[in-house]
Amino acid sequence: MSYILVLYYTKTGATRDLAHHIARGVEQGGMEAKLRTVPEVSANCEQSAPSVPESGSVYVSKEDLAGCSGLALGSPTRFGNMAAPLKYFLDTTSDLWLSGQLIDKPASVFTSTASLHGGQETTLVSMMLPLMHHGMMILGCPYSEAALLKTKTGGTPYGLSHLAGDKSDFPISQEEKAIAVTVGKRLAQIALKVA
Ligand SMILES: Cc1cc2nc3c(=O)[nH]c(=O)nc-3n(C[C@H](O)[C@H](O)[C@H](O)COP(=O)(O)O)c2cc1C
Repeated sequence: MSYILVLYYTKTGATRDLAHHIARGVEQGGMEAKLRTVPEVSANCEQSAPSVPESGSVYVSKEDLAGCSGLALGSPTRFGNMAAPLKYFLDTTSDLWLSGQLIDKPASVFTSTASLHGGQETTLVSMMLPLMHHGMMILGCPYSEAALLKTKTGGTPYGLSHLAGDKSDFPISQEEKAIAVTVGKRLAQIALKVA
């Protein structure tokens, strides 16, 4: 069964909510969405977490990534960059790079920030870089999505973003939701064409 992997890290839930909206778009585009997350990384190398999280999406395996037909990759912005737990997982994927298993698969990236100019676009680019090394085809959001010109919060042509506010309590706007669905749908439709 082919699927789009919607892989994200979240601390306070905003990036997870974006992932769910992208998954709706993937399904509207005619594909199954597989939602997965990554565990926390700990400074204490002896500390280990349960292998199944208490709630939410289960942890991703490398098989989930190797077997996907396309990828949506999301992280909260951390100092203008992707969060360490997501980078930590990506740094374990050199075997997939060596075998070229992700080459020519479509991918899109998404993020959430506290502040409007706090690094949405740099974080999106930081997630694109390893995916380009993997040979994935990066998809943004075209301006045929009218919400890109109307949004007063998140949403970029480089990928979906959300302005969560400094208390992480801004709801996902109508425009951000529209862009999420467009991105998910486009990912699914292009993955189907590539297949
Ligand atoms: C260590 C750390 C660094 C952060 N860096 C930024 C930043 O550079 N720009 C910004 O706007 N928000 C920054 N934030 C805020 C988060 O990106 C924001 O709260 C995000 O919406 C959280 O997403 P989540 O709910 O999926 O965890 C930072 C938060 C933390 C904990």
